[in-house]
Amino acid sequence: MSQVSEHTSFELLALRELAADAAQQAGERIVQMREGETITSQTKSSAVDMVTNADREAERLIIELIVAARPNDSILGEEGGASVNGSSGVTWVIDPIDGTTNFVYGHLASCVSIAATIEASGSLTEQVAHTPHWRGDESAPLRRTIAAAIFNPFTNEMFTASAGGGSHLNSRRLGMGEDTLLNTALVATGFGYSAERRGEQAAALSRLLPHIRDIRRLGSAAYDLCLLAAGRVDAYYERGIQEWDIAAGVLIASEAGSAIIGSVDGTPAGTNLLVAAHPQLAAAIQQIVSPEL
Ligand code: IPD
Repeated sequence: MSQVSEHTSFELLALRELAADAAQQAGERIVQMREGETITSQTKSSAVDMVTNADREAERLIIELIVAARPNDSILGEEGGASVNGSSGVTWVIDPIDGTTNFVYGHLASCVSIAATIEASGSLTEQVAHTPHWRGDESAPLRRTIAAAIFNPFTNEMFTASAGGGSHLNSRRLGMGEDTLLNTALVATGFGYSAERRGEQAAALSRLLPHIRDIRRLGSAAYDLCLLAAGRVDAYYERGIQEWDIAAGVLIASEAGSAIIGSVDGTPAGTNLLVAAHPQLAAAIQQIVSPEL
């Protein structure tokens, strides 16, 4: 039995508080850098995929805080500043700035996203067993997020969740509405950075658009999942999403009542496809946007 399967609600709340504290401090730092320092950027996977000095600085700060509090945990960070391999069974999955393009251009949808995760297999406490599983790429293990925080320092919104403990925006408990229909659904989505991936995403979007109220493309998957939890969109889906973009958001959305599913061929939620939606909508959206078999 892993150490985490024995975690009590109290310990899950402590993980959530650590995530929130690190997200708050990193968020304050990126605002400070945005306002008072030169932001420099380089490209990553393609000419349109950016990383800035603020992403790297925020990741460094988050790692420092987590390692100081929990030296036996593992850490996976988007910007590669962390390859900490611990023995506790907990892996922190962090995105120091989700919405880097927004950050560079001065749009408000930029968040710090921090998730405490465990491998989905093995013996789990009841509250953890109810969390959705998800995975990064095909070679990555299935994971469950047990505690999470997403902080948007530009709107001062702190979204948090713990397994079985619900999700909150600042101190307000979040929950989804009762009835939702596909033809009146407001659906968030996003696009990756490779031209080939964008072609597939455009095809899925053109199939979905005639069936729904409208689309929102805010530029931060983490924030999209929070807005779903807060009832400001009815669904979010994306193909080709990375694990650090969604690790915290899947728990925040699911603890607010969202379904979290993958594609129609049974591939789990994750890089291949993530559909997060009001339970009355999820299967219909999945049918329309899944990769064509
Ligand atoms: C991106 C954002 C965007 C999503 C992309 C992600 P980044 O993350 O979450 O909304 O559509 O797939 O890569 O690059 O800003 O960290």
